[in-house]
Order: sequence, then C-alpha cells, then structure tokens
Amino acid sequence: MGKLAKKNEILYHIGISANMLKGAKYALLPGDPGRVEALAKALGPAEFLGSHREYTSWLADLEGNPILICSTGMGGPSVAIGVEELARLGITHFIRVGTTGSIQEKVNLGDVVINNAAVRLEGTSGHYAPIEFPAVADLQLTNALVEGAKKAKVKYHVGISISSDTFWPGQERYDSFTGYVPRRFQGSCAEWQQLGATNYEMEAATLFIVAQSFGLAAACVCGVVAKRTKSEKVAPKSVYKKASAAFEATVKEALLSVTKK
Ligand code: URA
Repeated sequence: MGKLAKKNEILYHIGISANMLKGAKYALLPGDPGRVEALAKALGPAEFLGSHREYTSWLADLEGNPILICSTGMGGPSVAIGVEELARLGITHFIRVGTTGSIQEKVNLGDVVINNAAVRLEGTSGHYAPIEFPAVADLQLTNALVEGAKKAKVKYHVGISISSDTFWPGQERYDSFTGYVPRRFQGSCAEWQQLGATNYEMEAATLFIVAQSFGLAAACVCGVVAKRTKSEKVAPKSVYKKASAAFEATVKEALLSVTKK
C-alpha cells in the first residue's frame, strides 16, 4: 500500500480531498471534463465535487455505492498525475471511459472497444516501468466490462489499443497542418492492423502501467467515434451520442456487478 493523503488534504492538481469521496474505491476516468456530469448522472444521483485544470470531479451514488467520476484531460502526463493523486485519496480501481478511432473493418462507429492491453506509443509510462513491460488491463475489471456490455446489449469488441501521444502523426493522420507524417509512423497504421490491434486512443497504456506499478487495477472502455478504415475524420455529434450511450450503459452494468455487496 502506498502513501495515502490526510483525509482533509486537498490535492494540488485534482483539487479534491479524501473526505469528499465518502469512501469511494472506484473511479471512472473520461478524458473530457465536459463528459463528467452526464456520466455521473447516468449512474444515479450525483454531486459536483470540484474542478481544477483538466480535472473535473463528480461523485455518483450507484445504488448506495459511491463512485468518483474524474476527468483526466488528454494524453499520458495528465492521466499519470490524476491517477497518482486519486490513488492517494484511496481509489483502487480505475476505468477509463473514452473515445477512440477503430482500425479494423469490423469495429464500427458507435460500437465500444474494451481494451485488454495497449501499445505503449507514448512517453509517460516509461517513467513508471521499462518499455519491455506490457501495458495490460486488470482481468476482473475487464471481464466486468465485457459482461456489462452484454447485459446492456451494446455492440462490443475486445482488443489491443495503440495509445499514442499525438492525435495526428502517431495515429498516422495526414489531414494535419503540414500533412506530413514522420517516416517512423508512415505505414504504422497498416502494421497495427496486420497485428490485430483494434483502435487508437491516447491514454490507456499510461493508465494500465501506472495502475500496475501501484499494485492497483485499471481497465478501459471506449466508444468508437472515428473509423480509420474509411476516413481520418472524427464522425459527427450523432455518432458521439450513440457511442456515449453505449459506454455509459456498459460501465453502469459493470460497476453494479463489481460493487455488489
Ligand atoms: N481519439 C483518438 O485518439 N483517436 C481517434 O481517432 C478518435 C478519438
């Protein structure tokens, strides 16, 4: 067990303290602060806790169990900072709830992808574990997400994410300011496809490695908002709505099963 913060200590980046969490052990981690309130309210009655930098926090009451929903912002560094501080508040289980771009033909817009592992195409996790160490999700939490998706009748896939530090070059997108993708990434999307990876996003690998290095549990579910076998573009808002309904229903069912007393 690592070092817990004093119950009334407001942590520097996330701006909340342990005594605000009512003993919550589970946290949902969307990237977008704008997604926190809806996610919280999808679980049950919810209250706003605070908002500092990219970290907006709400506490939801899921049939008597407190669940923290805290945004992390985009990319590895802010995920690692958030998880460091949330662990000090007593959170032991982290579920990233995000959006993603699929790279396999069978993974469609609006589906969800549950990531059992992630390619460490980012820099932050290397500050916690050597690059040879695999970024793997917690099996029990991941299985709960799979069962949650089945129960919610959500179209889901299980697979390996490529967690990239960048949205454009690292994900081999050419619709950028310069249109240039460095040689290192040219052809990389086809290679990940060939290897059977399912999707691109920017946070799962960091989350898996940081949680593992703390002896804590992490999992990841993402709604598909771009289909890279068809286009580099992110799909319109209607697709985001479908994807968010799917991941909300999935995490709610998963949390109901893992918090059942
Ligand atoms: N998030 C990403 O990182 N990539 C996408 O294509 C969509 C969402």
